[in-house]
Amino acid sequence: MKFCAKSLNFEQSSDCVVIGIYENTTLSTNAKKLDEATAHYLSDLLKTGDFKGKLAETLLVHTPNQPFTRLLLVGCGKAPLNETQYKKIIKAVVQTLKSTTTQHIHLLLNDLEIKDRNEYWAVRFAIESISDTLYNYDEFKSTKAEATQLAKFCFNSENLAETEKAIQHAQAVALGVKFAKNVANCPPNVCNPAYLAELAKELDSEYSQISTTIVDETQMAELKMNSYLAVSRGSENPAYMSIIEYKNAPNPDAKPIVLVGKGLTFDSGGISIKPSAAMDEMKYDMGGAASVYGTMKAVAELQLPINVIGVLAGCENMPDGNAYRPGDILTTMSGKTVEVLNTDAEGRLVLCDALTYVERFEPECVIDIATLTGACVVGLGHINTGLLSKDDQFVEQLLNASKQAHDYTWHLPMNEEYQDDLKSNFADLANVGSRAGGAITAGIFLSNFTENYTWAHLDIAGTAWQSGAAKGATGRPVPLLTQFLINKSS
Ligand code: BES
Ligand code: MN
Ligand code: ZN
Repeated sequence: MKFCAKSLNFEQSSDCVVIGIYENTTLSTNAKKLDEATAHYLSDLLKTGDFKGKLAETLLVHTPNQPFTRLLLVGCGKAPLNETQYKKIIKAVVQTLKSTTTQHIHLLLNDLEIKDRNEYWAVRFAIESISDTLYNYDEFKSTKAEATQLAKFCFNSENLAETEKAIQHAQAVALGVKFAKNVANCPPNVCNPAYLAELAKELDSEYSQISTTIVDETQMAELKMNSYLAVSRGSENPAYMSIIEYKNAPNPDAKPIVLVGKGLTFDSGGISIKPSAAMDEMKYDMGGAASVYGTMKAVAELQLPINVIGVLAGCENMPDGNAYRPGDILTTMSGKTVEVLNTDAEGRLVLCDALTYVERFEPECVIDIATLTGACVVGLGHINTGLLSKDDQFVEQLLNASKQAHDYTWHLPMNEEYQDDLKSNFADLANVGSRAGGAITAGIFLSNFTENYTWAHLDIAGTAWQSGAAKGATGRPVPLLTQFLINKSS
């Protein structure tokens, strides 16, 4: 898909011009200009009363004797719009046009009023929404979806430089989201830890700024990553931890920002096995790693002038005769011991060793991203990612990026008092606490392994994928992470 920015001009031909109409059907600035340029075709059309301007309502008409072949009216409801309403409008446009023979679309939507957002964001969200709407995963279907003929969207703009920048940023975010979705949707018999490592290596061959190293189980044993290895022991598919190093800071010794993604390519629960309902969705337990992968892709596409390290902590949690068990005591890479009370709380056991491992990079800061707890889904639902950190300034930066990118997160508390819930009679820590505050105690568990750097934890259990008829990965929180890194670059 191509995108372009151009100033308002009806002489140039296009296959379709798209104009937004609010519910009161008074003409916007662009609509007025269009109306004048078309001998009041638009106002005559609106006079029929057929088109009401309800949010995401569409009316596609063919326009003989005009420089454009079609005119698409899209309803915008009431001004000002919020981001979700705006994205719905764009989605309606794409859905109306995607199965037509339209190739070149001219969007005259820059006069829509989105609350607290300028033209830059209107273009960003439009492209992100276009990409989202056209996304389809049919890798494993015998009959593939028909390719759309849509080829190019042009945004009319009064600030071409800003619009070009928005196009560039949005395309990178959209590509990162798409890559994250593809790997997350991939079935667990194909997407195993070795597959994640292959993807990490592909980034190395594709970008000169990226070098990837793979840590296998033998090396993990040498590093004393016993906790990570314990989770992997019940699986026939060996664990691999991929280290994707992106170096592009003007000062090559600049401290890196480190992203650590939980990469459980399947989480059966292990010996504390999960109920079978919806267990297929535990292929998405590598959503954190998928988002790190997608973000590295976006960063490399944007050539951001920073140093970033992405870690994909690939592993599979299965029950077999060699599997780790409840009651086992593991000595983590940090030296701290953990009593396993539930083998289904495996993510934190993989992450604690990965988080100790990354100390060697002397990071500026570390963010781990994990589908860590069902409790986070109970608390926040599928709208907000849970954010946990003890560093208020870091929290501020992440919340800011989250708001900018329209990728919601909610800050959860981390008082020291929660630590009591993880007491064990036999080891330094238990791997689970009581049911109460499960998303927080999971974060608290990790905090015991991140004392040597600035750290935040994103629990994406509720946001990494959708269930039901529209089951599929969301690519979240690639927009948030990429925005955070864009902000860090300027
Ligand atoms: N991957 C799951 C968390 C999860 C569950 C994410 C459902 C999305 C939907 C994680 O490994 C897990 O099983 N966590 C347990 C922890 C519990 C045993 C303390 C959970 O949330 O039930
Ligand atoms: Mn689990
Ligand atoms: Zn899990």
